[in-house]
Amino acid sequence: MLAKNEEREATRALLASAARHASAFRAADPLRHAPSFTYEEAVVAFDGALSEEGEPAGEVLDDLVRRAGPGLSATTGPRFFGWVIGGSHPVGLAADWLTAAWGQNAANHVAAPAAAAAETVAARWLLDVLRLPEEASVGFVTGATMANFVGLAAARGEVLRRVGWDVEEDGLAGAPPVRVVIGDDAHASVFSALQYLGFGRSNLIRVATDAQGAMRADAFERALPESGPVIVVTQAGQINTGAFDPHEAIVPLAKARGAWVHVDGAFGLWARACPKKADLAAGVELADSWATDGHKWLQTPYDCGYAIVRDAEAHRRAMTIAASYLPPVSGTERDPSHYVPELSRRARGFATWALLRHLGRAGVAAMVAANCEQARLMAELLRAEPGIAVLNEVVLNQVLLRFGAEADDAAGDALTLATISAIQAEGTCFAGGAKWRGRWAMRISVSNAVTTQEDIRLSAEAIIRCWRSVASSAARG
Ligand SMILES: Cc1ncc(COP(=O)(O)O)c(C=O)c1O
Repeated sequence: MLAKNEEREATRALLASAARHASAFRAADPLRHAPSFTYEEAVVAFDGALSEEGEPAGEVLDDLVRRAGPGLSATTGPRFFGWVIGGSHPVGLAADWLTAAWGQNAANHVAAPAAAAAETVAARWLLDVLRLPEEASVGFVTGATMANFVGLAAARGEVLRRVGWDVEEDGLAGAPPVRVVIGDDAHASVFSALQYLGFGRSNLIRVATDAQGAMRADAFERALPESGPVIVVTQAGQINTGAFDPHEAIVPLAKARGAWVHVDGAFGLWARACPKKADLAAGVELADSWATDGHKWLQTPYDCGYAIVRDAEAHRRAMTIAASYLPPVSGTERDPSHYVPELSRRARGFATWALLRHLGRAGVAAMVAANCEQARLMAELLRAEPGIAVLNEVVLNQVLLRFGAEADDAAGDALTLATISAIQAEGTCFAGGAKWRGRWAMRISVSNAVTTQEDIRLSAEAIIRCWRSVASSAARG
């Protein structure tokens, strides 16, 4: 055992070393976009017998950095366009380091007053920046998947309560049926949330979508049940195209029939924070609950999402946890655990509070506007190249590309997949693939605050180079 002073000094040295490693990672060449290790190689790198006596802390940390390094993706770099990852902003990262160092369990306001308070204030700011009703409550969850789960749990409780059934107390067995209406191009995580809630993934009323993946208002009106407990799930920002469901048309229809409307806006909800893009999300504010992410467009480090519910009572009823050893909540206090599925949990409010404070309303708006303009530029540069087709209307930050535009489906798939592999190997930028309308596409998601127009130009040139090389090898047979 180390003496107290030595122990403190060892902790200080260890944390200083962690900060040095972290800074070196962030300062490293952002050109390295694909990990040089596969998963199997990474397992080998980490593998070994469990130490019997343990090993010195500093050595373990250095060793962790050495072993993890080749298996890390440069998702924080300006030219990483895979999935919709966000950039993990340095201010969020720094606040998150402190969150870990402070070691708070943000379950309740007595165990962690500062963590609970930071959430209370950050929640108010989130509603402000997203222009959602100020009476709504916010649960700080792991991401949009859980935010969808929470919003839909509140929905389930409330639509059943209105027909005299207490699902929180009595469960689903014997409950009146709840019908769920959802677009054909909803995100996979919504179907998972519906699965967790006992609705099933298939027992749903599906609504036809247009070419961009947005629900068709006429099809929605026909599909909407006349009465009974109904939950409508809409989307603000389709994962492939960035399209928005026509909320101004469909939300009033749903509300007129007594339905609860839940919006999955994992990244697209942030359009509301940007005056240049807010029209896309008009009518979204009429809904009852919303799911969005901090770790995508707000750039918080992983993980962080927000479950927002207009009816705070319904939200609390769906998530509340009570036990004799947990503090009661009086009028003004707020216990974070009453709005999320977990009891013990990370204090996500600190990073959200710090980022919103740092960026301000104008900073968030500028970041969203810049990424959207960069996506538009990427589409313009690539569309000009023969053989490359932009499959979506680039209304937000998503660009969907097909290579071998004139080729038949199978040949186009092969050319598109080969171009995706080529750009990943080349390393100027990273983009992945996704199937759209049954055919493979390259998906570019611009969602990092550090990306510049120059990054877009360099990336477009690299993608064109890769495509030309794939096309000429294919032509040679
Ligand atoms: C539209 C949409 N909904 C939900 C999710 C799930 O979000 P998360 O991965 O943060 O749980 C995503 C993720 O990309 C998404 O794009």
